[in-house]
Amino acid sequence: MATVFSGIQPTGEVHLGNYMGALRQWVKLANEGHDCTFSVVDCHAFTLPYAAADLPKRVFETAVAVLSTGLDESKVNIFVQSDVPEHTELAWYLSCVAPMGELGRMTQFKEKGENKDSVGTGLFTYPVLMAADILLYRATLVPVGHDQLQHLEFARDVARHFNHRFKREVFPEPKPYPLTLRIRGTDGNEKMSKSRGNTIAMLDSQATIWKKLKGAFTDPERTTLEKPGRPSVCNIFTMHGVVTPAATVTEIEANCQNATIGCGACKKVLAESLETELTPIRSRAAALNAEPERVTELLKVGAERCRARAKETMAIVKDAAGVRGALSRP
Ligand code: AMP
Ligand code: TRP
Repeated sequence: MATVFSGIQPTGEVHLGNYMGALRQWVKLANEGHDCTFSVVDCHAFTLPYAAADLPKRVFETAVAVLSTGLDESKVNIFVQSDVPEHTELAWYLSCVAPMGELGRMTQFKEKGENKDSVGTGLFTYPVLMAADILLYRATLVPVGHDQLQHLEFARDVARHFNHRFKREVFPEPKPYPLTLRIRGTDGNEKMSKSRGNTIAMLDSQATIWKKLKGAFTDPERTTLEKPGRPSVCNIFTMHGVVTPAATVTEIEANCQNATIGCGACKKVLAESLETELTPIRSRAAALNAEPERVTELLKVGAERCRARAKETMAIVKDAAGVRGALSRP
């Protein structure tokens, strides 16, 4: 059994990119009985400007979305990152072994820092905090979307550098979950992302989902029904691959390629698959929203369990690094 860690930022509505790229794999791994820890990573949200007054609501909504996917709270740890201060503490120790040159090559830093007069250091060192999130639990398996693979590779390097410097196997090297997806937005082009306004929210109503799907871009070269389509470049087909039964996916692929199914009909099938998949999630979210104290309680329990584990790792880290202040002397 693997030790699994992953996180999601509380930066807006959880969308189908998050669900298909990450949360769905979280549920699968939890159901398989792995030791799973998932976090609403609020400290990561500090890297870009935001309205402080809105953050508690966003953290809560993100936690509800995560819980509503069907994760069994008695088996997995779900917590808010800032409840476990060891994340930021470990990030400092790791930053001292993390190669700066590699940070400069991170595509997400280049994208997010682009065209800004000034950016905070945290945006640059963000992958160090992400490495700390993972290594604090000595996780071995990390289910994330395609956009996070570079950061995960960085976390592996940091683990290796730390172990090498202190000549001890303190951290295992975390591996990505083998399925890494990149879901594009309704523009059919860019990654589905909260900042791009091209999302379909996981908790959108069925009517809203259909409205957004109807307007979503498909293969740009399929300008008429008679023209064969190219499923491999169509985002609708990528989503079918995640939520539609395999036999239907094969049929849709063939029918698109020989122009016997149009984009409208193909989207209808996707809307049905999404309805089957998301209806139970929406009802669990409604139940959780009706009981906010229960959500808070679950997050508290999760944070307490994680703090205990985090303290254990920090003791090992400090011992390896020879860090011992007066308070921890016998
Ligand atoms: P974020 O909202 O950036 O915190 O992302 C949370 C998780 O969702 C991460 O594992 C991301 O890689 C994943 N994710 C976000 N957007 C997409 C997307 N468009 N396609 C696939 N995975 C995604
Ligand atoms: N950086 C990730 C994102 O933006 C979120 C994240 C933070 C994360 N810490 C993590 C994902 C640790 C996996 C493991 O999507």
